[in-house]
Amino acid sequence: MEDHLTVGVIGAGTMGRGIAQVAATAGHRVFVLDRGRDELDNALSFLGHIQDRAVAKGRISREDADTLLRRISVTTEVGDLSPCDLVVEAIVEDVNIKRTLFASLESVLASDAVIASNTSSLSITALAAGLKHPERFIGLHFFNPAPLLPLVEVIPGLQARNGLGDEMMVLMRQWGKRPALAKDTPGFIVNRVARPFYGEAIRMLEEGLADEATIDWAMTDLGGFRMGPFTLMDLIGNDINYAVTESVWTAFHFDSRYQPSFAQKRNVDAGWLGKKSGRGWYSYGEGVPAPKPRMDKDLGQDILWRILVMLINEAADAVFWGVASAEDVDRAMQGGVNYPKGLLAWAEEVGLDRCVETLDRMRSHYGEDRYRCSPLLRSRAAEGRGFFS
Ligand code: NAI
Repeated sequence: MEDHLTVGVIGAGTMGRGIAQVAATAGHRVFVLDRGRDELDNALSFLGHIQDRAVAKGRISREDADTLLRRISVTTEVGDLSPCDLVVEAIVEDVNIKRTLFASLESVLASDAVIASNTSSLSITALAAGLKHPERFIGLHFFNPAPLLPLVEVIPGLQARNGLGDEMMVLMRQWGKRPALAKDTPGFIVNRVARPFYGEAIRMLEEGLADEATIDWAMTDLGGFRMGPFTLMDLIGNDINYAVTESVWTAFHFDSRYQPSFAQKRNVDAGWLGKKSGRGWYSYGEGVPAPKPRMDKDLGQDILWRILVMLINEAADAVFWGVASAEDVDRAMQGGVNYPKGLLAWAEEVGLDRCVETLDRMRSHYGEDRYRCSPLLRSRAAEGRGFFS
């Protein structure tokens, strides 16, 4: 693709405004479309505020900030997107609403313009199937906040023309991102591989092995993760986190590895959604003391190891099923959700044999398929090989 493109971004919400900023920073002309004038005004003032802050901190000159902002125009009319070479859709996560939008978009765009979706959970292949030209459709999955997190999952659907994935990988690198190529499978890379971070943590809580604060402490202080699972679920919102788990579980035909938990469902039913509702796994009222973890290192190392080994197993299985290369899986978890290390590199550090033994022990103890070891992890351990050789 050329260096200077005209880029459309549809949806001026959390993701759309961030993607618009990234594209404008890369030097492209950007049109942001939303159905409401208020949303567009809010997005423009938000983007202006971000640039003001960057100028105040000396990260960009006033002149460059103004040039960047001048590259962004807003509109409520799909017709204004007709000059776009690439349009990235970031509207509500609803397959029918997205399909209706793509139909009107195709009526104004050139037939070779690329249409991308930022969907987190819908099948790219299924979305493309509604298009007149499905070969120009692709997933470009940015992470929140889009200007700060380096990962973009690039997901060609089944119908994508040859080379489209590679072209988007090049373009995303030009946008300053660290993209990872992913097969169109439920959860792509990150939302699939990260499931045990939440699921296994809740499982230990439900079993009474430790409380939320202790599990969070083990993952942050002993494991080096930026946030513990319960703090993170409260930040994301238990409603959203539960919906992602449920959608991945359903899409995998109810594989027990991804099974949602009763405890999180109860939180959602109670309206305990997390920070945004004042209560989730934790309470956020003024003056409520932070719960104290049980800082028992032995217990902590159990906790950390159990979640880590399940994450490693999931990462290995994603490679086994050809969802992405080992390099891209590790890059994705570091660049999209800030994991302190790539999971497969971590597995090599601790020893693949040890991972297999733990999984086998848990499978036999619980008698559940949830703990089955990935064939790739088992075979690499048996061969004495790692994932990158
Ligand atoms: P949001 O609710 O913040 O923004 C959506 C925007 O789309 C709103 O401004 C709304 O007015 C607009 N909109 C809705 N229907 C429209 C239509 N038919 N035509 C034009 N504009 C329309 O949503 P958010 O969080 O930005 O999510 C957007 C997409 O990005 C979803 O597909 C979501 O799954 C995905 N995503 C969200 C992430 C997040 O952390 N919020 C992360 C990665 C992907």
